Amino acid sequence: MEQNEGNNKILSINNIFGGYGGVNILNGISLYVKKREIVVIIGPNGSGKSTTMKSICGLVDIASGSIVFKGKEITNLRTDKITSFKIGYVPQENNVFSSLSVHENLEMGAYNKKKSKYDLKNSIEKIYQIFPPLKEKQKQSAMNLSGGQRQMVAIGRALMLDPDLLLLDEPTAGLSPKFTELIFDKVIEINKLGVSILMVEQNAKEALSFADRAYVLVMGKNRFEDTGKNLLSSEEIGKMFLGG
Ligand SMILES: Nc1ncnc2c1ncn2[C@@H]1O[C@H](COP(=O)(O)OP(=O)(O)OP(=O)(O)O)[C@@H](O)[C@H]1O
Ligand SMILES: [Mg+2]
Repeated sequence: MEQNEGNNKILSINNIFGGYGGVNILNGISLYVKKREIVVIIGPNGSGKSTTMKSICGLVDIASGSIVFKGKEITNLRTDKITSFKIGYVPQENNVFSSLSVHENLEMGAYNKKKSKYDLKNSIEKIYQIFPPLKEKQKQSAMNLSGGQRQMVAIGRALMLDPDLLLLDEPTAGLSPKFTELIFDKVIEINKLGVSILMVEQNAKEALSFADRAYVLVMGKNRFEDTGKNLLSSEEIGKMFLGG
């Protein structure tokens, strides 16, 4: 049983401690994502959600513990090596190149992979199928897009290398309810294409409503974990983390 569960996990983070410049921000985080799951991380500001996402991508010094992706240990490997194993990462901030066009931003998503012109065109066409507004705006500079469209570009760029796992750090931050819903619909659509999702979200109630499972992070530790539905209906979680 334990063995089967293990094989089913695309990502597992095992009791990691780490941070920046020798100061630990993560104080024993453990979490996992099973194949094809949508897993959500919620928690107060500064609790280490973004640091956890960065740690998966080799952007944080991990002092102890391990991170395993598709059965391979990736702890403290170089970022380009880690992403080449097919992890897509959309950071919380500065996730598009403002001075580049939509099309150029998508091309940048495949910059470290030698793709033929044909493959590149095909990959970008697939992104336009998921986000049709981007096709219309492909020649426009990313700085002229709305916040929602910029997030589409950021997600599209991360999808360029056909990731098996997509890491999304607050993809709906600052977006209107309409765009928030649209981005969530797209996340579900991308997941249905076979991509496992690990997503940090401030719009916790909405995110928990479609998450398979979720974790609540507090001060660099995962305090609660359960199915999205159970967390949503828990009085304690509601009072403490979902605004009553
Ligand atoms: N580059 C950095 N150097 C030093 N400390 C950092 C760095 N980035 C973040 N921190 C600190 O690490 C802690 C956790 O930050 P993190 O960004 O992971 O929190 P978060 O849960 O994502 O918060 P938010 O909800 O505001 O996005 C904070 O105290 C923050 O000040
Ligand atoms: Mg953050």
